[in-house]
Amino acid sequence: MKTLDDLLAEGVSGRRVLVRSDLNVPLGDNGAGETITDDGRIRASLPTLRRLADAGARVVVTAHLGRPKGAPDPRYSLRPVAARLGELLGTGVRLAEDVTGPSARSIVDSLADGGVALLENVRFDPRETSKDDAERGGLAGELAALVGESGAFVSDGFGVVHRKQASVFDVARVLPGYAGQLVLAEIEVLRRLTGDPEQPYVVVLGGSKVSDKLAVIESLLPRVDRLLVGGGMCFTFMAAEGLGVGDSLLEAEMIDTCKRLLAESGDKIMVPADVVMAEEVTADAPTHTVLAAQMWEGWKGLDIGPITAERYGQVIAEARTIFWNGPMGVFELPPFAVGTAQVAQDIVDSNAYSVVGGGDSAAAVRALGLPEDGFSHISTGGGASLEFLEGKELPGIAVLERA
Ligand code: 3PG
Repeated sequence: MKTLDDLLAEGVSGRRVLVRSDLNVPLGDNGAGETITDDGRIRASLPTLRRLADAGARVVVTAHLGRPKGAPDPRYSLRPVAARLGELLGTGVRLAEDVTGPSARSIVDSLADGGVALLENVRFDPRETSKDDAERGGLAGELAALVGESGAFVSDGFGVVHRKQASVFDVARVLPGYAGQLVLAEIEVLRRLTGDPEQPYVVVLGGSKVSDKLAVIESLLPRVDRLLVGGGMCFTFMAAEGLGVGDSLLEAEMIDTCKRLLAESGDKIMVPADVVMAEEVTADAPTHTVLAAQMWEGWKGLDIGPITAERYGQVIAEARTIFWNGPMGVFELPPFAVGTAQVAQDIVDSNAYSVVGGGDSAAAVRALGLPEDGFSHISTGGGASLEFLEGKELPGIAVLERA
């Protein structure tokens, strides 16, 4: 697989380079328009962009935001992202008003050496996510045309390498493709987890659905010493143990699967012993903490309780390798953030090699004010890191390896 170093060694001064970054950041409304609530992914994209710009490349960034329905939608415009990217780079970043249309062509034409431009949300074009190879290929051809004959493609959006999409996969078949610095760093870390991780290897999994995590659970269980379960998905495990879960999130169709996992690997899987409950998922709802076996009808479990956090903390303290994906509760609301904060702090305090896998857990680290350097690595890819750990082929990486 060719890398950014190879491209820089070839020389990029005056050449146009298309970079696929993952700038899919959470947005909130501060009353004065959309604001970015966590710019971690934008910051993670900077090293590759800076190295290219410093070497005199004309950098054309393509990225997505959210899941628009294949048509322009102002709610998913990359405008706030372009502004933040410009601030962080210390240079203005012009945003094209379209993906590969007249605005994109004119902005790319006006780029100076070392300049950076951002194309509008690539998912505004329905061909980006099309299942039809020819349609995706058409968009990839237009993206490639923007950077012209001497152009190159740098794949740096780790969070999307599991997507077989035009700007991730197909474009690397029409332009010479190189792995960016972020993609390389992420792969190196995940290879350490799939290779021969130091034992005890502890995985902390949260998030709402067991069904989303089933494949990774199946592939991790033979390798890990402990799997600590929290978040919405723990209630399906608790139901599989025969406990009542009140009004909590439950995937009834997954109960038998959880029963099987507990029967096969019950010695490794830890499920909450106590739970923080409320009737409503609001910041001012009255809460009660109860033993897992005593949940109330009509109440929802929204966080792990203190006995569970203590037990999980003891396991984490002994670990030599930790992978954490998914919050332990509804961490966005203070009454249900304690379990996630405690587990995250225990990981920071441990001496283990610790990896935070993507999306919500990475956002939780920053939202809860935990030190980012307290973890060995915070991945920018939620789905991508899980699919890597499952051992699945990631199209965005495979296409670079085959080139
Ligand atoms: C993510 O948020 O995990 C990545 O940006 C990929 O987004 P997607 O799940 O909408 O493809």
